[in-house]
Order: sequence, then structure tokens, then C-alpha cells
Amino acid sequence: MSTYVASILRTVEIIMSSKYLIAFTGAGISAESGVPTFRGSPDSLWSRFKPEELATPEAFLRNPRRVWEWYVWRMSIIKKAKPNDAHLGLARLEELGILKCVVTQNVDGLHSRAGSKYIIELHGNIWRVKCSNPSCNYKAILEDIPKEIPPKCPYCSSLLRPDVVWFGEPLDPEIWDRAVNEASKADAILVIGTSGVVYPAAYIPLIVKERGGKVIEVNISESGITPYADVFIKEKASKALRDIVRLCEERINARKAST
Ligand code: OAD
Repeated sequence: MSTYVASILRTVEIIMSSKYLIAFTGAGISAESGVPTFRGSPDSLWSRFKPEELATPEAFLRNPRRVWEWYVWRMSIIKKAKPNDAHLGLARLEELGILKCVVTQNVDGLHSRAGSKYIIELHGNIWRVKCSNPSCNYKAILEDIPKEIPPKCPYCSSLLRPDVVWFGEPLDPEIWDRAVNEASKADAILVIGTSGVVYPAAYIPLIVKERGGKVIEVNISESGITPYADVFIKEKASKALRDIVRLCEERINARKAST
């Protein structure tokens, strides 16, 4: 039996006997949908662009047009992208009652488009905007890519900014608390396509591990999570999820047939 097959079988065993499985995803789950990752290859975003020029509050103050141009470019990629079998597989596991929640670092909205219902977006969503004026609470969901950039707040005329977490900014405490609460309940976590180096997000699988839960990782290369993963599936997310979901469905059907 290949290492791959053995790790998929072990994964199915863990998740079928888990009481509270959650998923933790990163940019790698959307790579096969054509959305660039941040790290890990020469065309990753942080190999090509400087985060301090594009993804900090200071960068936005200095040059909001430049920041918006970059977000409009990313939005045009994401708009064309379709959820792949890994996003769809997580939605199916939720539908089957196996997966309880997806905690994602991604801002692309592909989990929701795949049909997942309970999603916690730690780093915001690229299709939402908020007013950059801290005393204005305006927030909106964009229907499409903004035609005029930088867009302005309809209430106070300050500039609108993407409702995403930038370097140097804290996570929304309510969203973080929900994610920690899910991780504290979980007895297993499926970690997919993350380098596991950005904190506090990368604490989520660690919380599950420290409370005695099992950590299953799917990644094409080793990450910050790999040293403590109970199962490491070295494979593309879409293939691994297709195989996991198929075997879970087979087990469920076999259980039904025997009762
Ligand atoms: P990264 O870009 O840091 O890591 C992507 C991971 O996905 C790498 O470990 C790759 O090996 C893996 N990968 C690539 N293609 C894959 C595939 N087809 N199947 C499985 N794995 C694959 O992305 P994140 O860990 O999500 O933060 O990055 C974390 C945060 O850093 C992002 O949310 C963003 C960024 O700065 C903010 O914007 C605040």
C-alpha cells in the first residue's frame, strides 16, 4: 500500500470516528482554482509584490489608488475562479454531517460559493468594503469590482477600503473568539493548503492538538503545521479531498446497508 493510500485510509478512520471535525484552510486550497498563493512558488504574491506597499494601513494612507489597483486585479482573478473539488469536498462533508465548520484565512469567498454554510473568515472578505474613517461604521458587500477607485463612503465621503485584515492589524475579536471556540470543541481538524506561519491564525490547529485532537494536514509541501500533524497527506488538495469524500460516502452507505 502506498504512503498516500495509507494516509487517506487513516484520515477517513479519524474523521468517521470524530465527534467534532473542523477544517482550517489557506491559500493553497484555492490554488487549483487559479487564485495565487502568498508563499511557496516564484509566482506567489509575496514573491512578486511587497506586502508593506500593498497590505498595510500605512500603504493605504500613502497610496490608496495603488492598493486598490492591486485589489481590483485580485478581484478580477477571483471573479473568474470556480470552487475546486477541495472546496466542494468540504461542503459535501458538512452536508453529510461530518464537518462542523470551516475556519479560513482566505478572503476569496470560494468556500461559500462551493456551498459550505458555517464559515469563519479570519482575514475578512475581498468582496466587502468598509469606511477607512474609524468614526464611521459604514460597511457594504460589493456586487462587482468597483469601476472607480478608490471608492468613497456614501455617508462621510472618506475613502472605502477592502474589509480584509492587513499586516499590523488585529483580527476582529468576535470572529477570533468564534474560531477559538470551534477549535476548543474539535477532536479533529483537517488543515488544507496553508503555510501555517501567520499568527494568530496558525494557533487554530495548535489549539486542537493541545486539547488532544487529531491534526490531519493536506499540503503539497511541508509547512509550519507538519511537525505536529498526526497525518500528513502530501498531495494536491482537490485529489486528496475527492478521495476522502468518496471513502466517507462509501462508509456511510455501508453502515446504512448493514442496519
Ligand atoms: P500561503 O501562500 O502562505 O501558503 C500556501 C500553502 O498552500 C503552501 O504551504 C503551499 O505548499 C500550499 N499549496 C499550494 N498549492 C496547493 C495545492 N494545490 N494543494 C494543497 N496545498 C497547496 O497561504 P496561507 O497559509 O493561507 O494574510 O497564508 C496565510 C496568510 O498570509 C494569508 O491569509 C494572508 C497572507 O499574508 C493576510 O492577508 C492577513
